[in-house]
Amino acid sequence: MMDHFCLQFSSMKIFAANWKLNLSPKETRQYFETFNQKLTAQHKNNQWIFFPPASNWEACAQSLENSPASWGAQNFWKDASGAFTGESSAQVAKDLSATYVLIGHSERRQIFGEDNALLSEKISLAGKLGLKIIFCIGETLQERQENKTLEVLKSQLKILDKNISNLIVAYEPIWAIGTGVVASPEQVAEVHAALSEYLKANLTNAVPLLYGGSVKPENSAQLLKIPHVDGFLVGGASLKPDTFLSLS
Ligand code: PGA
Repeated sequence: MMDHFCLQFSSMKIFAANWKLNLSPKETRQYFETFNQKLTAQHKNNQWIFFPPASNWEACAQSLENSPASWGAQNFWKDASGAFTGESSAQVAKDLSATYVLIGHSERRQIFGEDNALLSEKISLAGKLGLKIIFCIGETLQERQENKTLEVLKSQLKILDKNISNLIVAYEPIWAIGTGVVASPEQVAEVHAALSEYLKANLTNAVPLLYGGSVKPENSAQLLKIPHVDGFLVGGASLKPDTFLSLS
């Protein structure tokens, strides 16, 4: 299969599903029965990545054994094992066949207080384990209104090592996540163009750029046409296989 890090040379798009704390192991198996059945040759031209809650990792791994889709950990602790009550292990996810991790989601930053120092350590563990990273960045409504969007995004990106590889960046304006308010095509175009320039200037390897925040079937086609939008990170609209597939 084509490596998605060569994405700029192809029309392949990335569709990443962030299930957050939704769906049980049983529902996960049912989801993939439908998903695997409905995945057509055309869908297979794109890349599909799932981030189920840790309780469903095994069900997800088993369901995707013969599927072109991949999966990863929504969250994990910065150490692979040890005395960290209640945490999840990236090493275990990898052993179960995960190829991705999600790092820096705004809910982790805001609700769980994950800061740049912790996120750097998570990035470093993912690198050591050979897990590909979807790194999320985004500004609050107040920061946007104060014209600080790019400044905030750059302060989030500055923890990335110049030579980092296997990285995807997801731009998710916090005010558009789970709110039903999607950023306008102009807003997405402006930020993605600036991010693309910044990443080219500061990182050695090409980085696909995803948009996230209230992506749904009604707005996906328009958003996918925007230059430097290489796909989506999707919450709510990824919870039903038909809806998720219809975003492509
Ligand atoms: P949403 O979530 O699609 O439900 O807005 C996106 C995300 O949090 O990744």
